[in-house]
Amino acid sequence: MYLCQLHRVFTLPMSIDQVRDEYQRRFGEPPEVLTQAPGRVNLIGEHTDYSGGFVFPIAIDRKTYVAAGKVTARSVVFSVDRGEGSPFDAATVEPGDMRKWTKYVAGVAWAMRQAGKAPGNLRAVVGTDIPLGGGLSSSAAIELAFSVAWNELYHLGFSNAEMAPIGRACENHFVGANTGIMDQMASALGRAGHAMFIDTRDAVIRYAPIPDDLAMAILDTGVRHSHAGGEYGSRRADVEGAEAKLGKSLRDATLPELDRTKDPLTTFEYRRAHHVITENVRSLAFAEALDAGDRERMGQLMREAHRSMQMDFEASCPELDHMAAAAWQTPGVIGARVTGGGFGGACVALLEQDSANSILLSILAQYRDSSGKSGEAILTTASNGAERVI
Ligand code: GLA
Repeated sequence: MYLCQLHRVFTLPMSIDQVRDEYQRRFGEPPEVLTQAPGRVNLIGEHTDYSGGFVFPIAIDRKTYVAAGKVTARSVVFSVDRGEGSPFDAATVEPGDMRKWTKYVAGVAWAMRQAGKAPGNLRAVVGTDIPLGGGLSSSAAIELAFSVAWNELYHLGFSNAEMAPIGRACENHFVGANTGIMDQMASALGRAGHAMFIDTRDAVIRYAPIPDDLAMAILDTGVRHSHAGGEYGSRRADVEGAEAKLGKSLRDATLPELDRTKDPLTTFEYRRAHHVITENVRSLAFAEALDAGDRERMGQLMREAHRSMQMDFEASCPELDHMAAAAWQTPGVIGARVTGGGFGGACVALLEQDSANSILLSILAQYRDSSGKSGEAILTTASNGAERVI
């Protein structure tokens, strides 16, 4: 009973077998390739990746699955959750041609063409068990699952490290969400059992092992976001405005410098820059604390990071604040904070493995009491990056 509640998910649980079977049913033969790409949580380092800062994501065991085969006619894609998408020609499709979720698919073909290799057409079935709009990178996962499918079907020879910027180009220029590189790097290059400390300035990853006695949970508020909407873009504009006035990247700026140059900055630019500069410092400190096994410090830094997202970056929401507070109050929680872009979605929590189930039930009960809403909790583990399965 307890386990059922804890593992309840917010989208229909999807298995790779269902996607393969649906392909067989629709097209009357097995797929030529079957691929999967994970979502991610981010332990710390939020809204730092578009100013060359530090992030600390983990690819998770919630994934997007694609079954695909080559076709000569136009590409057709069927989503188990959303039905049939509009057909398109991989050789000619351009930004502005597609609507809704098919942008994430056609945009990959377009981005591969920009990267110098033109994929042919495909027919495909896609399904996911990543909650959509939940701050867990469902967008990067669909981009990477299709990147691998095209790469394999047409022997394009892209490495996973090369497919991460292809996914980002799709998201930035085709979908129209001006995001950074964190999500695509996590989905492309994740490693089982490890978190990824990434210096986004030069895309260097240091893999940090996650201790066996630590459990990781996604605490979903049920509130949904879209980064193609205004808030993400307006935060990014504030960050860029601050950088222009400081004359340098926030990655290279310090708090004393920010305070010295405060005058020309708007209040918003100052606060956003304050978040990013302090978040980079916290991320480095968190990586050290994880290496040193200093759990108290890890928890304190996650809490400060949440507060900074709430007060300075203003990318939290009341439900995320209730969820984080519920976690902080619960014995056995090492740390918790909003994960991903914010404005809804989920918190990530690190917990003691031994009593993970009872800890999560207690957090959810407190969240229900304080917010009046029912949240969901999922235990998750660190997974490998995007790959071909068959
Ligand atoms: C979204 C974006 C990322 C990153 C996070 C915030 O997930 O896709 O590039 O900016 O928000 O850290």
